Amino acid sequence: MVFTLTSSQIAGIFTSASLAFAVTSIITSVGYAAAEYRNSESSALLKWKTNLDNQSQASLSSWTSSTSFCMWQGIVCDEYKSVSTINVTNLGLRGNIPKEIGELRSLKYLLFGSNRFYGSIPSTIGMLTNLVELDLSQNSLSGTIPSITNFINLEKLWLFNNSLSGPIPEELGKLHALTTIKLLNNNLSGPIPSSIGNLVNLTTLQLTNNSLSGSIPPILGNLTKLVYLSMANNRLSGSIPISIGNLVNLKGLSISENNICGPIPSTIGNLTKLNFLLLYMNNLNGRLPPEMNNLTNFQSLQLSYNGFTGPLPQQICVGGSLRKFTAENNYFTGPVPRSLKNCSSLVRLRLEQNLLSGNISDDFGVYPKLDYIDLSSNNFYGHLSPNWAKCPSLTSLRISNNKLSGVIPPELGQALKLSVLNLSSNHLTGIVPRELSNLTSLFKLSLSNNELSGNIPIEIESLLSLELLELAANNLGGPIPKQVGALLKLFHLNLSNNEFMGNIPFEFGKLQHLQYLDLSRNLLNGPIPSTLGKLQMLEKLNLSHNNLSGTIPSDFKDMFSLTHIDISNNQLKGPIPNSQPFLKAPSDAFQNNKGLCGNVSGFMACPKMTHNPHSQKKKHVLILAASISGALMLIVVMVRVSLHIHCQREARETEEQATEEQIQNLFSIWNYDGHIVYENIIEATEDFDDRYLIGEGGSGAVYKATLHTGQVVAVKKLHATLNGEMHNLKAFKSEVEALTKIIHRNIVKLYGFCSHPRISFLVYEFLEGGSLDKVLNNDTQAVMFDWNRRVNVVKGVANALYHLHHGCSLPIVHRDISSKNVILDLEYEAHIADFGTAKILNPDSQNFTSFAGTYGYAAPEFAYTMEVDEKCDVFSFGVLSLEIIMGKHPGDLISSLFSSAATSTASNLLLKDVLDRRLPHPMMPIVKEVIFIAKITFVCLSQSPLSRPTMEHVYKEFVMPRSPLLDSFPIVTLGELLYN
Ligand SMILES: *[C@@H]1O[C@H](CO)[C@@H](O)[C@H](O)[C@H]1NC(C)=O
Ligand SMILES: *[C@@H]1O[C@H](CO)[C@@H](O)[C@H](O)[C@H]1NC(C)=O
Ligand SMILES: *[C@@H]1O[C@H](CO)[C@@H](O)[C@H](O)[C@H]1NC(C)=O
Repeated sequence: MVFTLTSSQIAGIFTSASLAFAVTSIITSVGYAAAEYRNSESSALLKWKTNLDNQSQASLSSWTSSTSFCMWQGIVCDEYKSVSTINVTNLGLRGNIPKEIGELRSLKYLLFGSNRFYGSIPSTIGMLTNLVELDLSQNSLSGTIPSITNFINLEKLWLFNNSLSGPIPEELGKLHALTTIKLLNNNLSGPIPSSIGNLVNLTTLQLTNNSLSGSIPPILGNLTKLVYLSMANNRLSGSIPISIGNLVNLKGLSISENNICGPIPSTIGNLTKLNFLLLYMNNLNGRLPPEMNNLTNFQSLQLSYNGFTGPLPQQICVGGSLRKFTAENNYFTGPVPRSLKNCSSLVRLRLEQNLLSGNISDDFGVYPKLDYIDLSSNNFYGHLSPNWAKCPSLTSLRISNNKLSGVIPPELGQALKLSVLNLSSNHLTGIVPRELSNLTSLFKLSLSNNELSGNIPIEIESLLSLELLELAANNLGGPIPKQVGALLKLFHLNLSNNEFMGNIPFEFGKLQHLQYLDLSRNLLNGPIPSTLGKLQMLEKLNLSHNNLSGTIPSDFKDMFSLTHIDISNNQLKGPIPNSQPFLKAPSDAFQNNKGLCGNVSGFMACPKMTHNPHSQKKKHVLILAASISGALMLIVVMVRVSLHIHCQREARETEEQATEEQIQNLFSIWNYDGHIVYENIIEATEDFDDRYLIGEGGSGAVYKATLHTGQVVAVKKLHATLNGEMHNLKAFKSEVEALTKIIHRNIVKLYGFCSHPRISFLVYEFLEGGSLDKVLNNDTQAVMFDWNRRVNVVKGVANALYHLHHGCSLPIVHRDISSKNVILDLEYEAHIADFGTAKILNPDSQNFTSFAGTYGYAAPEFAYTMEVDEKCDVFSFGVLSLEIIMGKHPGDLISSLFSSAATSTASNLLLKDVLDRRLPHPMMPIVKEVIFIAKITFVCLSQSPLSRPTMEHVYKEFVMPRSPLLDSFPIVTLGELLYN
């Protein structure tokens, strides 16, 4: 039998069926009505089936009117033959959740998880008052969570992995039977309702990956049965409530990637069952409470990217189950925890970028499972333990930038899984052991900047996976073995600053993936092999400071991807190739040779070199194409690298941090010794003699003062008018005092303030490097300020603003971010000066008669509103970042971009054309970050404050890029940045 129904007939059936539901719901006690009710359950289900797509209907083939619905797949009936369970988990169903679902009144288990349901959750679901489990997880549901007050028996609420938005309903707190709430991976916003504190049966509460804001309600401390509590990656602020210590059954606590600030409360020591404590990427600070030493059952403890000080927890592995411990990018001091020595469960250890110290010769044992260890950028000394060789799972060993001495143990060659070995920037001596050639999985070997001597062992040819080889800045000598030319996967080779002699092996021409080749500052002689001209992906070539002779091979004119060339300080003669990369290079790149000639300024034209000008244009296009494809290829490589080593992006932070002792010591300027310091400073600057003047700022002149103690400080003498205007001294004092409490590696420390009827001044940390504007205005210094350093400075400023806008206290707005106010230290780390003083020194600046910002950096709204908030700093940050990558104030660019919109010529400029030309074009991987800065900058420069990101967003994108912003490579024009 075949029925054909028109759509209006279908609609008619639909209405009468709903009507039947409505009637039956009133008279279910009547026998015939119960039968009809069951009948309508079956027809409702069948009707729903017909609304699903064909494939879904095929999955539900047992659902037919000819079989009793209690026999259908996924349907279970109760003793009254009513549907009690619908379990269609993971059947690949696609469609809406029908509103008629609300009529299946006996339903206890509604299990729709892992399908492709979309649309909103119908509010009729609230009628299912018998529900025990509701699982709609892993679908594509959107809209808000409907009213759910009636679910008095509900034990399990799983809505995770959908696109639900809106708040978590307050009334959730009435569902007392709940034991499990999983709402993670949605777009829920608003606060965590404190009513959840009533759900005393909860064992699992998962809210990770939403947009929840506000603080963690202290009442959650009532949930003493909780085993898992996760709130990571939201926008939570405030501190960790002390009541957290009541959750004595907790095994997992995850608060990472929020804005939580302040110290960890000591009550954490009660949570002795904790296996997982994830606090990374917040604004936490202070010392870890000693009570944390009571916690010995960690499997994973992650404290990275906070502002913690003091020693690491010592007992973390006493329980013997620690697998992962990460504490990188904090200010931890002292030695490696003792309990790590025999921590045989360890898989991953990250302690880089701290202030840790001590002799690590014997601190580490043998770890059968260890995969990844990074101790870089600390103050460790001692020898490299041969024990590392006995870690059969080790893939990454990174201890760069410490003070290690002694030799590289040949035993390391037994750690056969090693793929990354970075021991650069230490004081290692002895030879490069030939045993390392057993490490056939190695793709990154960095031993640069040590005191290694001897030759490169010819056995290196077996390192066939090697992609990066850095042996620069050692005392290595002898000829460069031709076997290096067999490492066909190399894309980065740096042997500079050694004592290599003899010829450049012509085998290097086989390194077809090479993008970076630096052989500078050696004793190489003989001709440049013409085979190098075959390196079609090469972007940077530095052969300077050798004894190379002969001519530049003519094949070099075909190296279209070159962006940086330096062949200066050799014995070369003859023509400089007449191709773009060479013609565009600065003349420094060729100077101090024997007789080069060509179309480069500062050089004689060659006697008889002619070149066909018609090919110029074509080549230009080719250059672009080649460098873009090169860059893309490198991205592929980089992605592989990061997957391979599970490497997080690293924000390089300074190790030049004032120790706690120093801070204590200098604090006394404010606390006890105001008078003495005043005298002392007057004396040290000879009553502010110009000889000590180091800068001039908006609110006063800055002097350098060497105190009796030998400490050097910067003193800002306030302009007399400001001095006189300080009418509300009490408010002023408390503000300055608050500012002296800010401790951050990217903020110039304010030590204190001295006031005297005659002269008032602020006392700051003194930094050697000078202000950013001076560095950018000086051609020599600007060149030293390379792309890595520039990117790092932008990150540092972002970090500082993030800290001040989103830290524990009320947001502090700088109001005067400019290149004058960013001071560099000798490591080129950025430190923001004058934080908060713009406001305290100009209490009336809310009107624009006393303009607090610096012209050219202030946000447009500054001119016409009284509102000065964080978004003004975001705009100034945008200007500053652009200034850093352009090398000059971007005023003209910004105004032309904003004025004539899409048609302006400025918007068709290529990014690479506005980058600071005093530097070579940025290379991979740094070029990616430069592009990222350009992109984020243009969002920061949005005219409307609302369209600008928060500094939290900006900073977190730097540290842990999540949005695909960075991936949309290559970059094209500035216009596209602005209008896409
Ligand atoms: C629901 O169905 C899935 C898949 O068939 C099964 O794994 C699961 O155990 C079922 N759940 C219940 C509560 O019956
Ligand atoms: C926890 O640690 C503190 C301080 O280290 C100690 O006084 C206390 O006795 C410890 N508590 C337990 C239960 O071990
Ligand atoms: C490490 O050694 C200490 C002291 O010898 C011992 O108490 C502890 O259980 C050991 N830990 C592991 C993980 O073996």
